[in-house]
Amino acid sequence: MEQLDRALAKLEAELTVSPQVMKALAASFAAAMTAGLAGKASSLKMLPAFIGIPAGYEQGEVVAVDFGGTNVRVLLLTLAGWGRCNILVKRFFPLKDKQKQYDYTAATASGSQLFDYIAEKIAEIIPRGEHIYPLGYTFSYPCRQYAVAEAELISWTKEIKTAGVEGQNVGQLLQAALERNGIGNVRLAAVINDTTGTLLTAAYCDAAADIGAICGTGHNSCYLEPVHPLTKQPMIVNLESGNFAAVSQTRYDAWLDKASEKPGTQRLEKMAAGQYLGELVRIIISDLAADGLLTVSAADSLQVPYVLSSEDLSAILADSTAGLRSVADTAAVRLGLCSLKVEELAALQQLTRLVVDRSARLVAATWAGVLYKIDPELTRQHTIAVDGSLYEKMPGYAAGLAQAMEDVLGPGAGKIALRLSKDGSGIGAAIAAATVQAADGKA
Ligand code: BGC
Repeated sequence: MEQLDRALAKLEAELTVSPQVMKALAASFAAAMTAGLAGKASSLKMLPAFIGIPAGYEQGEVVAVDFGGTNVRVLLLTLAGWGRCNILVKRFFPLKDKQKQYDYTAATASGSQLFDYIAEKIAEIIPRGEHIYPLGYTFSYPCRQYAVAEAELISWTKEIKTAGVEGQNVGQLLQAALERNGIGNVRLAAVINDTTGTLLTAAYCDAAADIGAICGTGHNSCYLEPVHPLTKQPMIVNLESGNFAAVSQTRYDAWLDKASEKPGTQRLEKMAAGQYLGELVRIIISDLAADGLLTVSAADSLQVPYVLSSEDLSAILADSTAGLRSVADTAAVRLGLCSLKVEELAALQQLTRLVVDRSARLVAATWAGVLYKIDPELTRQHTIAVDGSLYEKMPGYAAGLAQAMEDVLGPGAGKIALRLSKDGSGIGAAIAAATVQAADGKA
């Protein structure tokens, strides 16, 4: 066990992000924002959203589609102004289903199959007839926008591979699918990133909200640029911060990246997002096993990529039983490690904590970077609106973020509120659509 303890101490040193490192990261993040905004080389894409913060009075009955992970969500909702929103229908549809033998996220699926599926699901909840429903569409991948309803997919992230969508106008693809499927009474009004949705939802009722983020399957943040160079007006900018590159990788991160769908991209996301945290933990456990530091049975599934999910990590971290029953079950069922001693289970729990805490501290450093850029002296209140499964469900994650904000900002952190923007990516699409309608004088 002594050797395992030593290995853990080494891991702790490698994975801990100190306040000093966070401050340095925040400074280089702010510099990358400035460069990206000025069109200079930067790992931050700084994508204009062509939308600002809602005024608060936006109202109406709106359809929202939220596409960004392994499910697509379709909502019909009524906005009543000033944060009031009534969800009339909300349905989830999986984009892949082994039993039903479909996977619209695979390279074998085409863009039209994917968008026809989404259109069919919209048809299932929207009454046909004369009434025209504006559609707000959250599409949670890096898009170059030319207007609020014109968004071109730059490249897939989160290991999605559907063919023929990169480089295409994803708004047009959905509108065309709606028409192919005879849904003439739903009209695309806005395409937004999920971070934008999260921010819009919080800003609908909180005037201090100016940063939005997703800490879920993927990771990204956006912020309100007070004077955007394109319009000289306030505009939300999608940072695509998952691609931030000035984070130093351990050898585990480098291995994960090398085996990923797009090596060399999304460096921060691969260290911070739910899609990858389980895989990082698996890679570290298999390295410990290869060094003979764990009791490994012959039939282990330790070498199967992505066999550990972030839900498994949640179960590991939530376990406070004396014998670490959930850790033992997860190790046995997912990794085939059936004969671990309780000290080894404790080591698994500890290294999971290290990986999860590092994620929160890296993310907090980037938010501090945004604050360094928009309000370096922290002269006013800021709300950071967050949605996503890590933030909502991973034990200790939200608290870790709050602690990390204090560590990086010091007493100034008192000006910063982190706020769960529940279902923000979907509701935000509706707010975006209603904002566009209001601007067009139709609402
Ligand atoms: C995408 C972002 C998105 C984030 C959270 C990332 O992989 O590039 O556009 O906001 O995931 O869903």
